Amino acid sequence: MTTFVPEASTADIGVYGLGVMGANLARNLARNGYATAVFNRTPARTDRLIREHGGEAAFVPSSALEDFVASLRAPRVAIIMVQAGPATDAVMEQLAALMDEGDIIVDCGNSLFTDTIRREKWAAERGLHFVGAGVSGGEEGALWGPSIMPGGTPASYERLGPMFEAISATYDGVPCCTYIGANGAGHFVKMVHNGIEYADMQVIAEAYTLLREGLGATPAQIADIFAAWNQGELNSYLIEITAEVLRQVDASTGAPLVDLIVDAASQKGTGKWTVQTALDLAVPVTAIGEATFARGASSGSAQRAAGQGLDGNTAPLVIETDEARAAFVEDVRRALFASKIVAYSQGFDEIGAGAAEYGWDIDKGALARIWRAGCIIRAAFLDDITRAYEADPALPLLLAAEPFATRFEECAPALRRIVSQAALAGVPIPVFASSLAYFDQIRATRLPAALIQAQRDFFGSHTYRRVDREGIFHTLWAEPGRPEEQWG
Ligand code: 6PG
Repeated sequence: MTTFVPEASTADIGVYGLGVMGANLARNLARNGYATAVFNRTPARTDRLIREHGGEAAFVPSSALEDFVASLRAPRVAIIMVQAGPATDAVMEQLAALMDEGDIIVDCGNSLFTDTIRREKWAAERGLHFVGAGVSGGEEGALWGPSIMPGGTPASYERLGPMFEAISATYDGVPCCTYIGANGAGHFVKMVHNGIEYADMQVIAEAYTLLREGLGATPAQIADIFAAWNQGELNSYLIEITAEVLRQVDASTGAPLVDLIVDAASQKGTGKWTVQTALDLAVPVTAIGEATFARGASSGSAQRAAGQGLDGNTAPLVIETDEARAAFVEDVRRALFASKIVAYSQGFDEIGAGAAEYGWDIDKGALARIWRAGCIIRAAFLDDITRAYEADPALPLLLAAEPFATRFEECAPALRRIVSQAALAGVPIPVFASSLAYFDQIRATRLPAALIQAQRDFFGSHTYRRVDREGIFHTLWAEPGRPEEQWG
């Protein structure tokens, strides 16, 4: 193994942690002309990166952490790319011990935003900048151009921003990286991005199961449908890869690969965080919630085993004529699009609520702009979201803004047909169904929540407000005649 001892102050930026994501990010930085210091706790990884890719560009490898830090030009910028959690804290402590005031530590992992807020405070107390940067795009994105969502001090963005903008994906020549806000803002929006990703994936899966049940179509035939959809308003990375996945045939059996994969969806936790945080902020993110719970339901093997054989009293979906089949496919497409609008609208609501709670000035239009390329949820659709927030940065509800309001109204009949057909046929489509329920809730002039308030007042004196008078009221339910009192 080679021992790397670099010259001091020769690197523009450094990457600590050379797993696939870290190595690819380092290669991207180096390819873009930044002398990139690289270090890994296990030296074999540094060795491998230099052996396999050292000829690509200017790397500054180190075998010792002290040398890695010394190799960085002041103010130093060190990116941490290790497993999110305690490892990030451990690496921060090591780096901080060797750094000077004004140096910048950047965490590009999928860290929980509250950890990032805590770490930023910890770093600031030591005179250091801490940047929590969301990075999306998977391994290929890290190498060729991810979408980057950095949070932290504006001063740290001055030093880091140009490098991140240079290595990020571009859309119409615009970099998919922008300053998001103080401390945890970058990781917060990345968390919601991932929550939306869960919903996006689930609605695609729901469309797939409906097409399979309703048409009796093969995965390859459904791949063709997704490929056709990818030419229109649903155009997105996730629809594109779905067509590829559905076409994949298992080499050993000749069966569609998707039929051989265990139907239990895993998760690393970012969707769960999005839902937990939404509950704390009292924001309904039903599409993300149902998508996250659907992964849980698929993985609940004891419950699924116990539920096998229960009679659903269902009538199979039978769609016979070519005309009816074509209409069904179009209904499914519209149901998917409408549910996608709900997922994004709710995700942006959560971002607004998070910004208000944590004091971040998040520009939602700019955020949608940097999600147009590079990231996993990249889609043609994000261009419209960008324009909607540019037209009105204080938009209270994305779903009610154009072009989404009109498109949703146009798709709503299809969504209603699909949700009812699926219910009768016993095909589980939790995000489609909850998206319709959400739409009907927010457009309703009056909700049965009035009854909930009365029930709460009955058993717990929790009070209610009246539609006809100002004030807080309580009915004395246990007293004869049940008189009403005004409490405030
Ligand atoms: C991205 C992805 C990335 C990762 C997810 C997968 O934006 O590049 O979201 O962050 O693939 O963490 O998440 P789950 O394992 O929870 O599905």
